[in-house]
Amino acid sequence: MNNLVVFVSGSGSNLQAIIDNIENGKLDARVTGVISDKEGVKALDRAQKHGIPYQILSSSTFSDYGRYTKALLNQLKEWAPELIVLAGYLSKVPTEVIRCYDRRIINIHPALLPKYGGKGFYGLKVHKAVLEAGESESGCSVHIVTEKYDEGPVLKQRTVKVHPDDTPETLARRVLEQEHQLLTEVIAEQLAKLESSNTSN
Ligand code: GRF
Repeated sequence: MNNLVVFVSGSGSNLQAIIDNIENGKLDARVTGVISDKEGVKALDRAQKHGIPYQILSSSTFSDYGRYTKALLNQLKEWAPELIVLAGYLSKVPTEVIRCYDRRIINIHPALLPKYGGKGFYGLKVHKAVLEAGESESGCSVHIVTEKYDEGPVLKQRTVKVHPDDTPETLARRVLEQEHQLLTEVIAEQLAKLESSNTSN
């Protein structure tokens, strides 16, 4: 089945990379749904364009956190993912969801974790910190999502050389190109691992 559910918050270029690699046959999977914590983001246009159902679910629009978590779990039950992919997703995944999909949620982070990860390290802030620290290289990491931000086991990384004249924006662009390739690679590897563990059970 290789069902994927992708969580987004913004432009959705990582979602687009997944969709493109499915459509060009590089990735044997299907995106059964997209969850966004924000309305009106470009990622939702991308989902719509490819006929992928989406839901906007944010804890801020529920009377209490428990109802939000229940709504999220119900939606996931319907879309039945083998693997959940956080792709540019900025909200915290409820602990109950992490436990329910134990080791089946992955996140892509635009730095070489464990450095430049954790609360507050997202988007251009990450690349700004890398440049201010005078790093000679940066990159991106895909890790298993656990209850602590960006702290789960790192599955795979790609490195990117930092150029002397880099700005956060130019570095972000080069890292993002690597993210798009790394994410598809890791999704394929994780789906294969899950499939073999299911067949061996
Ligand atoms: C990417 O750098 C991703 O690593 C970070 O959010 C940025 C935008 O991702 N988490 P996308 O274009 O929304 O996929």
